[in-house]
This record gives sequence, C-alpha cells and structure tokens, in this order.
Amino acid sequence: MNHLPQIIQGGMGVGVSSVALARSVSMQGQLGVISGTALALTLARKLQQKECSQDIIDAILSFPYPEMAERVLDTYRLNVTTEDGKGAYKAVPMPSLERSYLLTELMVIACYVEVYLAKKGHQGVVGMNLLEKIQLPTLPSIYGAMLAGVDYILMGAGIPIKIPMILDKFAENQDASLPLKVLDNVTNEPVDMTFSPKEFAKGHPLPKLKRPKFLAIVSSHTLALHLSRSDFGSPDGFVIELPVAGGHNANPRGKVMLNDDGEPIYGTRDEVDLEVVKNIGLPFWLAGGFGSREDFLRALSLGATGIQVGTAFAFSEESGMEKSLKERIINAVLKGLGRVKTDPLASPTGFPFKVVEVEDTTAMEETYLKRNRICDIGYLREAYRKENGKIGYRCPSEPIDDYVKKGGKIEDTKGRKCLCNGLVATLGLGQKRKNGDHEIPIVTAGDDLKFIARFLKKGSTIYRASDVIRVLFGLV
Ligand SMILES: Cc1cc2nc3c(=O)[nH]c(=O)nc-3n(C[C@H](O)[C@H](O)[C@H](O)COP(=O)(O)O)c2cc1C
Repeated sequence: MNHLPQIIQGGMGVGVSSVALARSVSMQGQLGVISGTALALTLARKLQQKECSQDIIDAILSFPYPEMAERVLDTYRLNVTTEDGKGAYKAVPMPSLERSYLLTELMVIACYVEVYLAKKGHQGVVGMNLLEKIQLPTLPSIYGAMLAGVDYILMGAGIPIKIPMILDKFAENQDASLPLKVLDNVTNEPVDMTFSPKEFAKGHPLPKLKRPKFLAIVSSHTLALHLSRSDFGSPDGFVIELPVAGGHNANPRGKVMLNDDGEPIYGTRDEVDLEVVKNIGLPFWLAGGFGSREDFLRALSLGATGIQVGTAFAFSEESGMEKSLKERIINAVLKGLGRVKTDPLASPTGFPFKVVEVEDTTAMEETYLKRNRICDIGYLREAYRKENGKIGYRCPSEPIDDYVKKGGKIEDTKGRKCLCNGLVATLGLGQKRKNGDHEIPIVTAGDDLKFIARFLKKGSTIYRASDVIRVLFGLV
C-alpha cells in the first residue's frame, strides 16, 4: 500500500464508476474507484431485474452477517419487476435521519458488495468516492466499504473535515458521528448522526478492519491547507480538481458572472496555487482535463504524484453508463456535436454541474420541460427545521408547490433538474412511471469529451479502460 498510483480513475456517480470499471483499472496497477453514491437504490433495482448477475447475489451472500444478506435478498430479489424486467421498481425509502434499520442495512451491504466485487480475485487497490454534500448515507456507506477492505475513500463537493477521524474510529469498530446540516434560516444548527458498528452487528463478533487512506477532493489550496491542519486528522493526500472536470464543479469565487452561454466564468481568483499544495508535503493528484499523455506529463512536472481522470473512463466499455446512450454520445462527438455545458442551475446542490447536450436527455430544454417533477429517490434533499421543531427534507428539484410549502424559495427551483432520477436512468435503471414513460437520462462529462476519439482504434466507436491507460502511459 505504500506504492501510490499515478492514475486515479475518478469516482463518477451515479454508478458510472462501476465495479467493472474500477476492477479493470485496479488490475492494471492504478487506483480503480467505485462511486458510492445511491448504491442502496441501484443495488435494489439491479436485484429486481430478471437478468441480475449471480456475482451480485453471491457477493451479498458473502456479507459477514448472513441474516442481513438474506433480508436484502428477500426484500428485493423476490420482487423481480415483470417478466421482461421492465415494470416499475419497488420503492426504496429515501434517506433520512429517521430511516429504518433495514435501509441502513441496505446501505452498508450495497457498498460492501461493490467494493467486494471490485477487489475480488486480484491484489490491486480500490477506492470509493462519496460526496460531502450527500450526508445522510455517509457513515453506513464508509463502514460497508471498510467491511469489504476498501483501500481509499475519496470525498469532494464540500468540506470533508471529519472523515479522517471517522476512518480512525471505524478501523477500531468504534462509534463515529457526523454532523448533519439542518437549515433553519438562522444558525443552521447541525444534528449529530451516529453509526455504531457494535449496534449494527447485533451480537455478531466484530471483524478486524483496515483503515483506508483518505484523499480529499478540493478546488482550492486554502481548503487543502485547512484540511491538512484539522484537529480531526489530516487527509492522506489531495485531488486538486479544476473547473473543466466532469460532474459538479466548485462555484467561482466572489459574485458569479455568466458568459453568453449562461456558464459561470472562472478567473484568476479560482486558480490553485500549487506551491502552497506542494508545501503541505502530502501527495496530490491533478484532475480536470488531464486525459492525455501530454497533460499527464505536465501534471508530473508540476509536482503531482499523478492525475485523476474521469471523462475518458466514463465512455469506456466498462463504465456503468447504459451502452446505447454511451455509443450515441461517442457518435455525436465524432460528428462534432455533444457540447458540454457548465449549467449553474441544473444541480439541486447549487454547485455548477456539467451536462452533455444530446437529444433525449434532460440537458435539452424541451426534454427537461416535458418531465413532471417527482421526488422519490431523495439523495439530494436537504434537511430543514420545521416550525414545530421537527426535521423535514426538501429538494429544489421536487414539485415546486411542495418545495415552497416546505419553506423553500420559488426562485431556487428555477432550472433545477432531478439529478437522482436522471443519473440513475443514465445507467439504464430509470423508473417506469404510471403513464408508461421511463425516467429520462442526464449525462455529465468534462470538457475533455471532445477529445474522446484519441482512445478509439480506427473505424471503431468503442474502447476499453485499458486503452485509456495505454494512451496516458504513452504505450500507443
Ligand atoms: C460522468 C461523471 C460523473 C462524475 N461524478 C462524480 C462524483 O460522483 N463524485 C466526484 O467526486 N466526482 C465526480 N466526477 C468527477 C471525476 O471524479 C473526476 O474528478 C473528473 O472527471 C476529472 O476530470 P475530467 O472529467 O476532465 O477527466 C464525475 C465526472 C464524470 C465525467
């Protein structure tokens, strides 16, 4: 474990960083990363598909607490949707503070299963990516991944200050807590969430666990410095992500200005001072537009240990993106289409989010407007304090009336897209609605998408993760 990877395959949610992708990268000696986002939901849906792979079922059955494994299988495997596997999926409860023990169990097992499968049968290292902004599933997700021996946890989209301490505690099977932000228009007083390995195990002997390394994904040297000096322990390294990267991006500093296409403009204040990062003395990887040999070498010359690459892997054969959608985008890009837009409004998180402008996805205005708002996955809901003191949950992408009734501002709903349903549909796991329609996908990618052809062999429109690694190491 002392040998550090030069290439980190970025964690791409929901499910784009699949078991197959992380496994392939890991077996080639680099860091393969699974996305830990919404895995409870995607596992439940995969189990309901007639063609659910036996590997997944076997992985569940290998879970150290057998009655929990049986319960997950009984709840979801016995509900295979319809003969052709295309009926509506059984609902999975939305994450909340008051969630049932069964949902916690599903969250732990789902993360265990992905890491277990990604690591199975080889010696490579595997990480799991989580978003700081999605707080409710964080503790059970980390513990589930640790039960399967995860080597790295990577977290961005916020300030993941407590994660080093949580990893230390879980490695000793001690209880760990994380404060949940609760909006109340005044102090936003957080509420502690606790996960107790002992309580969870319900009398089973507690397994010996390895403490994974923690890499914080940040977009500023100030945040890197702050995290490295934290009383809760320092990260073991940093991924420094630039605004051309796929997925969510940091907001520009200061007042947000938009260009003619409505995209946020980044300026000199957003530049990362790599000298400050270097002086922290921890390894760092550069992310965002580093998907070529030249950019890889440039990152090394800037003092980085290596690079984190997302977009190039997102469209490889092994990624979790639904096959025909992936091919449609590659073909569009080869024709000079499939523009990537940094949408300042799409994500309910309030962070800019990159979308690929292709037909039949909610990145296109006319398709977006056709969708009836519905919130039934709920990973991006934020907790708020109700007038009666209780905690409620709301998301600016939910039906507008509901959001406003919950005290949300109507102006915050403008242009918001349901990333939960959209990103799950991108995997081919979209929910079927009462009118027979399926949820519509939304695809994110970085500015590097336009260079995707560099991984394709002549005449081909598909490539593998190994082709990306070969190009990056200059082996072609
Ligand atoms: C499809 C896609 C989904 C992503 N989702 C996440 C995510 O869930 N969490 C995260 O930390 N980063 C996410 N990212 C960012 C990547 O992990 C990585 O840092 C980034 O893609 C690197 O820049 P590049 O796209 O130019 O290669 C995503 C990127 C893509 C392309």
